[in-house]
Amino acid sequence: MTVSPQFSRTESWALTTLTIACFGVLANVFQGDGNPVSASLAFSGICYTSTYCMIKWLGATFIKANLKGRDMSKLKKVEIPEAMGAVAAIVYLLAIITFIPFPFYKDIVTATSGGGNRDFVIEAQHIETGRLLHKFPHNKLASYLSAILSLQVIVILGIGDDLFDIRWRHKVLIPAFGAIPVLIVYFVDFGVTQISLPTFLRPYVGGRELVDLGVLYYLYMAGFAIFCPNSINILAGINGIEVAQSLVLALLILLNDVLYLLPSAPYPHPAIDSHLFSVYLLLPFVGVSLALLKHNWFPSKVFVGDTYCYFAGMLFAVDGILGHFSKTLWLLLIPQVFNFIYSAPQILHLVPCPRHRLPHFNVRTGLMEPSRVTFERPLRPIIQTVMKIAAAVKLLDIKTDESGNIIESSNFTIINLWLVWFGPMREDRLAMGLIALQIACGLLGLFIRHKLALLIFTSDNLQHSSII
Ligand code: UD1
Ligand code: MG
Repeated sequence: MTVSPQFSRTESWALTTLTIACFGVLANVFQGDGNPVSASLAFSGICYTSTYCMIKWLGATFIKANLKGRDMSKLKKVEIPEAMGAVAAIVYLLAIITFIPFPFYKDIVTATSGGGNRDFVIEAQHIETGRLLHKFPHNKLASYLSAILSLQVIVILGIGDDLFDIRWRHKVLIPAFGAIPVLIVYFVDFGVTQISLPTFLRPYVGGRELVDLGVLYYLYMAGFAIFCPNSINILAGINGIEVAQSLVLALLILLNDVLYLLPSAPYPHPAIDSHLFSVYLLLPFVGVSLALLKHNWFPSKVFVGDTYCYFAGMLFAVDGILGHFSKTLWLLLIPQVFNFIYSAPQILHLVPCPRHRLPHFNVRTGLMEPSRVTFERPLRPIIQTVMKIAAAVKLLDIKTDESGNIIESSNFTIINLWLVWFGPMREDRLAMGLIALQIACGLLGLFIRHKLALLIFTSDNLQHSSII
């Protein structure tokens, strides 16, 4: 079933009410001292309603422009609009650009004699209007703009991928180009390349707590920016999973941010600005993603396309890099990291990799089953041994011929593995199971970050206001 441009009466009422309420909040914020958090929440609401409507209005246009795909896991394989994540991404970008006046204020007041000359420069007093209300000085604006630039680059490249279906070996590197603006501004503006070491490693570096990674830190950040978008794009192929996992990740990062902004957290704290910054980047993302999920959840009326996967992943990467909390992000990305490592033999072509690895839809039962790859040529003995060990511990489902050669295996993705473990199930139950796993891993990750990390680091920066 494809998306329709008609709105039900309830839909119209709900969307109109929410839009008016959000504009009301914005008008209020503008007249008062300006509370960027309330403004960001209002922007998030407007993002939701506008993405929701735009997707409905543009569905037919996308199909006409050949941006369409067949849902392979349905009885009737109808074509539905593809790359709708582009709509969500563009609404998001416009929202965070329009949001700029709310968190930033003029900290340098200039007087001009005309022609754009800055004759007098007077430093304005930094105004703190309260714990959550304070605004950022202009130096943060550079970081904010670099985030926007990086996201714009990735959206353009993502749309290119959705239009031209770029080959996998090329598209894996697309996010590296997207990361350039953030990395350059990080270098010019921030430049911190030190990491704090766990206690057990310190004796090897003369007892120091911090080590400077220099250029290696930039390589690490570029690697992180390549990993995030691709890891979301390969944990895909069943209705709703790309958006739902991104939404869960955004909410978990927001939960971590809130821990630093609660009245009980130490104040003032050097990490507060980074986490406030992260809140401003993520709230509108939650708005656009919720609207996209409404149309993309089982049974999907639209597909999100690679644009959304790249955009969402790049947003997390940018957020982690600029907020200097990429280590915490790795803990939230446990399912993606597992899926990436588990997929590696197919991605690196040690084992043949079909164009699509999404689970197989059984037309007789209507349930999803693990999709399989058959091997026309015998695999190398070492690979066969590893695969047999993996099958013995239920990490793969393999089939062998009379002489013991592996002739078939389930595809190497966490989605197929879930089906190997729990048996065939309906597509939406499969998605819900994987999302529950994402939530559980994320909460465990945050627990490790703030409680168990104390076992290997001398302090958790949530408790101590002096350490970033
Ligand atoms: C990645 C995966 C591929 C998986 C695909 C599904 C790797 C290396 N690549 O490829 O194995 O099959 O994502 O998104 O892991 N589709 C559905 N139902 C859905 C979502 C997508 O049938 O819920 C199909 C549609 O035909 C859609 C297509 O997948 O048009 C989109 O595939 P695309 O995003 O282009 O695949 P890749 O990202 O290249
Ligand atoms: Mg994809």
